[in-house]
Amino acid sequence: MNIVLMGLPGAGKGTQAERITDTFRIPHISTGDMFRAAAKEGTSLGLEAKRYMDEGQLVPDRVTIGIVRERLGKDDCARGFLLDGFPRTVPQAEALNESLEVMGRHLQHVIYIRVEQDELLKRLTGRRICRDCGATYHNVSAPPKEEGICDRCGGSLYQREDDSEETVGKRLKVNLEQTQALLDYYRSQGNLREIDGNQPIEYVTDAILRILRSTVS
Ligand code: AP5
Ligand code: MG
Repeated sequence: MNIVLMGLPGAGKGTQAERITDTFRIPHISTGDMFRAAAKEGTSLGLEAKRYMDEGQLVPDRVTIGIVRERLGKDDCARGFLLDGFPRTVPQAEALNESLEVMGRHLQHVIYIRVEQDELLKRLTGRRICRDCGATYHNVSAPPKEEGICDRCGGSLYQREDDSEETVGKRLKVNLEQTQALLDYYRSQGNLREIDGNQPIEYVTDAILRILRSTVS
């Protein structure tokens, strides 16, 4: 079960990835999460990535492809993986295909979660995340029971630095520029499926699981 989950910033990749990987017991590989973890640790890769993330720009392909290649070689990926937010450019998609070919594997599913831009803006600026366990909330659509406190672990909630209104606009623009070419690339490979991501979280999960299960059984 080798899956790529695509979507513009705020489309719900992380939210859906958690549910899918819980169901199929495969690792959730988010390049954004990996860069944020590296930045927190203060590694040179993390500090380089942070410069781009804070500006709403993409981290250069050479850096991004390198960390994904290394991650896919780890033992826990042997039964499959879900990539969240990678690839984002055609060169990244080509590099992924090459790496999988070398491993004697291929992508079974590329799922694109499509969401309207106005909705993306609302989702990103209202998102809050738990500092301790990483659970995701939204001020309006998925608020915690107690403001600022994580329901799951009691940790405090924060807003991602790149979720400010100014940076969100740049992120959407940069990602939009790359996404069309990437969708065309996967369409031509014949394994792209699109989901209407403007629906409630549970509906989107069901739609994705239906696609994944239809080819598992
Ligand atoms: P990354 O962390 O991947 O950010 P992103 O792509 O901008 O996506 P987000 O994580 O913001 O959104 P999401 O789709 O996961 O939505 P979520 O589920 O949280 O990347 C960050 C940065 O790292 C990039 O800008 C770039 O600099 C760098 N980077 C990463 N990968 C890279 C790559 N491959 N190449 C180059 N650079 C790279 O949901 C959002 C909110 O909406 C939440 O509050 C949630 O509760 C709510 N929500 C979710 N679904 C629904 C729904 N159906 N209805 C209502 N609300 C919903
Ligand atoms: Mg995410």
